[in-house]
Amino acid sequence: MSATKRPESDRHFVVVANRLPVDRVEEPDGKTSWQPSPGGLVSALEPVMREAGGAWIGWSGDAGPAPGAFEANGLHLVGIGLSEEEVQDFYEGFCNATLWPLYHDVIAPPVFDRRWWDAYVRVNQRFADAAAKQAAPGATVWVHDYQLQLVPQMLREQRDDVRIGFFNHIPFPGYEIFAQLPWRRQVVEGLLGADLVGFQRRADASNFLRACRRAASLTTKGQVVHADGGREVTAAAFPISIDTATLNEIAQRPEVRERSAEIRAALGDPELVLLGVDRLDYTKGILHRLNAYGELLDEKRLGPRPALIQVASPSRERVDAYRALRDDVEVTVGRINGHHGEIGYPPVHYLHQSYPREEMAALYLAADVMLVTPLRDGMNLVAKEYVACRFDESGTLVLSEFTGAADELAGAYLVNPHDIEGLKDTIVRAANASPAEARRRMRSMRRRVREHDVARWARDFLDALERVPAGAAGGRG
Ligand code: G6P
Repeated sequence: MSATKRPESDRHFVVVANRLPVDRVEEPDGKTSWQPSPGGLVSALEPVMREAGGAWIGWSGDAGPAPGAFEANGLHLVGIGLSEEEVQDFYEGFCNATLWPLYHDVIAPPVFDRRWWDAYVRVNQRFADAAAKQAAPGATVWVHDYQLQLVPQMLREQRDDVRIGFFNHIPFPGYEIFAQLPWRRQVVEGLLGADLVGFQRRADASNFLRACRRAASLTTKGQVVHADGGREVTAAAFPISIDTATLNEIAQRPEVRERSAEIRAALGDPELVLLGVDRLDYTKGILHRLNAYGELLDEKRLGPRPALIQVASPSRERVDAYRALRDDVEVTVGRINGHHGEIGYPPVHYLHQSYPREEMAALYLAADVMLVTPLRDGMNLVAKEYVACRFDESGTLVLSEFTGAADELAGAYLVNPHDIEGLKDTIVRAANASPAEARRRMRSMRRRVREHDVARWARDFLDALERVPAGAAGGRG
């Protein structure tokens, strides 16, 4: 394109993500302030943002007018506004009732609604326009996740001088499933505006390459798509990780270790503590896990008075499938506690809450066995966080085969969560592992997350983005 608009800003690195890395806080005096919401992504990108004078474009999570540009925590943030209707149609609708279930192997039936699609196009355009405005000539723009798949192409149409990377944090489904999407070609073409499209697993990248061939009739060679206009787009795997060193440090703080002992004492110092930590989402296999635990209690295979702590942080609470799941989980927890509980002993401690990192670290330390049993998960960072916190090299991890993390954490007890008997046997094996066996497994997993942390993930992706042929001339120059 020759009609490149003159940028109004001078940002050499621009992150575009649905969420801003801060939460809005209403102060008692009625003023708004912003509190950092510490996540792996922002901790990995912060150094790059600072060095390049970067900008982060995202949504605050509330309906209302755009907060616009502001500085928080030394970062330049640009808040995108969504109306109440857009929150319903774009965020709750197309993102979380169409794409989310579709990309997670249709565990829940995806809803295809043409009005939601229109909102998705409109909101993606808003993010793309903001990115076009923020990016300096020749800047690098990194777009994140399924909420913003049209942004790369929309941005490329306005700015052919920038280098565009896209990373999909969730799975990319097999073509037979993806093909259900009435707007499959538009989504593929949207992503192909990027120079590099990153996925969690190699299988996701292959699924995307196949979608390019089938939905957009393009040819591919190895990891490269021959897109329209002679451009070449690379699709590859970059498994995301966590801020391992920070978590490892937090877990070793005396107050966190004390808190972890306090948690075990509050549980009545049981011989066995099992832990689940998830967003309350139907992809996480929480019901499968609870049912397996209930049967293990029936069969008395976990010793006297075991404890299961299930943290289920509130998520997408206005979306139907999430409401239904919450009801099912709460009924199931009630049934298990009603049947197996005694005065002063609930076998399941169910916490529908979110906690700060320090409390999470204490919970991870308090567990003997961590249960991560999603039916489908792009990566699952909880599994990696647990490993990062186990500085004493004890504790075992039961991990679903259907997570990206299963490709990396060879020391886990891998399981098919649909196979309830297999899940039960695996939980029992993990609970009964000898200390030497547990240590051997934990050591190998700790090595993996130490060497492959989120900073390395960001570096690998950005280095690869620098190397691929970029811009409108990509592949021809
Ligand atoms: C997943 C997605 C993220 C999303 C997060 C929380 O990890 O990959 O893009 O931000 O869930 O969901 P929410 O809908 O609250 O942003």
